[in-house]
Amino acid sequence: MKKSAIVSIVLLLAGATLGQQLPSGDAKLGTHGYDAFEKPQACKSCHVDIYFQWQQSMMAQAYTHHWDEIEYFDLAVEHAKVDPSLKGAVDGCNGCHTPMAYMAGDVTPPRPSENSRANESVNCEVCHTIVGWSGDVPYNFSFQTSPGRIKYGAKPGLVSPHHETQFLDLYQQTEFCGNCHNEKSPFGAWVKSTQIEWKEGPYAAEGVPCQTCHMPKALSRNAIMAEEDLVAQHLFHGAHDPGKLAGTVELRMHPDEREIPYDGTVLISVQLFNGKAGHKFPTGSVEDRIVWLHVTATDSKGRTYHLPVDRKGFDGEEYTIAGDVLAYQDMGIPKGIADFAGVQRDGVPAGNRIFRMPYFDPQGRMTIMQWNTQSFGVDYRIGPRETKIETFTWRLPEDIPVGKVTFQAELFYQKLVKPVADFLGVPEEESEIMPINFANTWIEVYE
Ligand code: HEC
Ligand code: HEC
Ligand code: HEC
Ligand code: HEC
Ligand code: HEC
Repeated sequence: MKKSAIVSIVLLLAGATLGQQLPSGDAKLGTHGYDAFEKPQACKSCHVDIYFQWQQSMMAQAYTHHWDEIEYFDLAVEHAKVDPSLKGAVDGCNGCHTPMAYMAGDVTPPRPSENSRANESVNCEVCHTIVGWSGDVPYNFSFQTSPGRIKYGAKPGLVSPHHETQFLDLYQQTEFCGNCHNEKSPFGAWVKSTQIEWKEGPYAAEGVPCQTCHMPKALSRNAIMAEEDLVAQHLFHGAHDPGKLAGTVELRMHPDEREIPYDGTVLISVQLFNGKAGHKFPTGSVEDRIVWLHVTATDSKGRTYHLPVDRKGFDGEEYTIAGDVLAYQDMGIPKGIADFAGVQRDGVPAGNRIFRMPYFDPQGRMTIMQWNTQSFGVDYRIGPRETKIETFTWRLPEDIPVGKVTFQAELFYQKLVKPVADFLGVPEEESEIMPINFANTWIEVYE
């Protein structure tokens, strides 16, 4: 179903100028009522597959998901009550998590249990009415919206009985996603930078956008009456999908010597290669996420030992080695707990290397409240196609029996550090331990 090329070109030019006059970011507050946007159910009758794919994605739950509700209502909204200067930033959560509510001026929106249209979260219309963005870098819902009969997309000249269509380059560009996947805190800190990380990495240079990995194309029909074509699948797999996470980093390990005397020392090296993610790992909600390397040795009698990682000596390294330390004291402000001592910073075995970037509040304490973030510690995440090497110097225990010792390296991921999840009552699944990869090696101990 193709219109003439001329019509497409005219529409394309209209699209290019359209964005310039429209409000973006904060200026969108209260600019369009909910009625300006169709419900996803209206799209479902023709776009059946896309509808069900979208419905399973986290973006369809960006307002209703349990952890979003807890963080927004129990921490952010409460924090803005104590400190009204944060009200704008906290209303702004909705600019990305439920943009229709934001544009309708419906902030603070009703709780998810009230079943309002805020629950539609990042729905079809939110994305397919985006016509541009403004600024040098897209961030903090900097997109511009033009709801109505025209649905914008990445294919020129499509014809639909329900709406008009218009091609815009933007739908194949990463800036489209960066509008919501880059975020600046009220203190000017880049608390989310997935699109910026991508742009600085190898995939930008090779022209592989977000869409290639998160909306892969398959031969199918994008609407029940459409012809078969390569169609962008609306999968949006991310950190909530064990399969998307699995294998993001590949591991190998080896000793510096195969045969070691019973009173000797062995040096184990582990290589960690991020061959799968188009950005750093972890990315996105980096304040919540940790990735850690757990290495154990098992001797010929079956006894197991935990190996702490060797220190490298860089600035801020203490935040990258699991320890018995309290953090996140600023949660006491919204929770109304005076002089809150905090909760355990890591919740993983002491001595393990943690790949993360710590966020600091204005008092210099580690925080998971990204709107209360003023600065960052060391960025010890694994960049796209980067390989990091960790070493473990292990003096064999005194009573080690002769024979084979096997080593196992395991890399794990957690969406939300467990002590924080437990403190806030976030359901278990948000802090489940997700395996990323593993590797093995061995040595022979002799008399
Ligand atoms: C009555 C059927 C029908 C309904 C309802 C419908 N569409 Fe479509 N839509 C189509 C058809 C047909 C096409 C063109 C398919 C083709 O030829 O590849 C299309 C194409 C599109 C495209 C691709 C545009 C482009 O240029 O790449 C988008 C985006 C889109 N629809 C969004 C929506 C949204 C959002 C809704 C709900 C608000 C919706 N549609 C409701 C039938 C429908
Ligand atoms: C080369 C493939 C590739 C490209 C390109 C890519 N991603 Fe990813 N993305 C992944 C993989 C693999 C994961 C799962 C591992 C992880 O969480 O990083 C992922 C995870 C994510 C997550 C979940 C992170 C979390 O902690 O919840 C988000 C959000 C995301 N990507 C957004 C983007 C955006 C936005 C872009 C473009 C700017 C992009 N991705 C480009 C492969 C890619
Ligand atoms: C997060 C933003 C986002 C959401 C939400 C979203 N889309 Fe899309 N959609 C896109 C982008 C971006 C493309 C173009 C991808 C490409 O070509 O690489 C697209 C493409 C399409 C296409 C054309 C697919 C093709 O390749 O032929 C249709 C039809 C469509 N979307 C309909 C929908 C419907 C219906 C919904 C809701 C059920 C929806 N979209 C939700 C961003 C979104
Ligand atoms: C209107 C804002 C908006 C736009 C535009 C947008 N996203 Fe998102 N996206 C979000 C929000 C908000 C979440 C968090 C959902 C939640 O609360 O768990 C999210 C979540 C995701 C996740 C799932 C992460 C996880 O934890 O599993 C992926 C993957 C993702 N987005 C990819 C993309 C890609 C690729 C694009 C561009 C084609 C895009 N998004 C455009 C707002 C947006
Ligand atoms: C610039 C857009 C943007 C703004 C503003 C924003 N978020 Fe998000 N939020 C996202 C995106 C995108 C993700 C997904 C990142 C990822 O997958 O790691 C996300 C993830 C989250 C998550 C984690 C979801 C999960 O399931 O792991 C929570 C909770 C959250 N946001 C709460 C908030 C709160 C509270 C605010 C306001 C103080 C806020 N967000 C402001 C875009 C935004």
